[in-house]
Amino acid sequence: MQDPQIAPFKTQLLKWVGTKQRFAHEIASHLPPDFGTYFEPFLGGGGVMATLQPKRALGSDIFAPLVEIWQTLSTDPGLLVAWYAERHAQFEAGDRTAAYEAIKARYNQSPNGADFLFLCRACYGGVVRFRRRDGHMSTPCGSHPVISPEKFARRVALWQVRMAGARFACLDYRHAMAQARAGDVVYCDPPYAHSQSILYGAQSFRLEELFAAITACKARGVRVALSIDGTKKSGDVYCDIPIPPGLFEREIFVNMGQSMLKRFQMSGQRMQSEAVRDRLLLTY
Ligand SMILES: C[S@@+](CC[C@H](N)C(=O)[O-])C[C@H]1O[C@@H](n2cnc3c(N)ncnc32)[C@H](O)[C@@H]1O
Repeated sequence: MQDPQIAPFKTQLLKWVGTKQRFAHEIASHLPPDFGTYFEPFLGGGGVMATLQPKRALGSDIFAPLVEIWQTLSTDPGLLVAWYAERHAQFEAGDRTAAYEAIKARYNQSPNGADFLFLCRACYGGVVRFRRRDGHMSTPCGSHPVISPEKFARRVALWQVRMAGARFACLDYRHAMAQARAGDVVYCDPPYAHSQSILYGAQSFRLEELFAAITACKARGVRVALSIDGTKKSGDVYCDIPIPPGLFEREIFVNMGQSMLKRFQMSGQRMQSEAVRDRLLLTY
């Protein structure tokens, strides 16, 4: 079933915490090669879709500013470049932190893809966080250099070709998955149940409901692959996942790659044997 043709694609368009892009080719190689439409209902940074380059796809996410970016990539990539260039110029013109804070304040006043695009690239550690209290983005300005508009434009050109088969929508995953028909494939990369409640806009998410949606897909002849970080410790809690018996046919451990392993070792955590693999559950 493994498709050796899928090559790694490591150039990122957005910085997105939890992105699977570095080992997306491994995930994609376990998807069936013969699907109709590819659905990715937790699209995030889009690394898996861009690696797979499906001919026909629906990419969706509940986070509207993010979806606006993907929609603009497909309908008006030049505008995406202009959004970035405009904010980059403002950022480099004087006090970077002040410029970043002004963009962030405008975003928090009225969340939009144009500001979010720049913020996700310039924020500290590339980790977009939202305050529970008011839902405002809270991440401070990063100290890393942000990429030039020219470099960003080259990335847009690369990504636009890779995502050309997809349309994008702002949807709850249940509405997206309900559109899948027999012969289609769904890849799910949900927010981590324990550790990601303040990321991605602090949406509430219940794994049990996702399992119900996967069960319904399977009954209609839709094949579903689910990424779960079931071997990872989150704080002191092991992610104990109540997987319905018989729902999945196979379980694959996907390597998270050398750099992730190194990072854990360097930060002195004892996660070497626990966190280097990501679970991929397949209904087929
Ligand atoms: C782990 S991330 C996906 C990362 C992605 N695979 C990548 O490589 O960048 C989870 C995503 O699920 C989205 N999300 C959270 N709750 C959702 C819901 N109810 N319906 C659809 N998307 C949701 C978040 O906005 C976030 O982008």
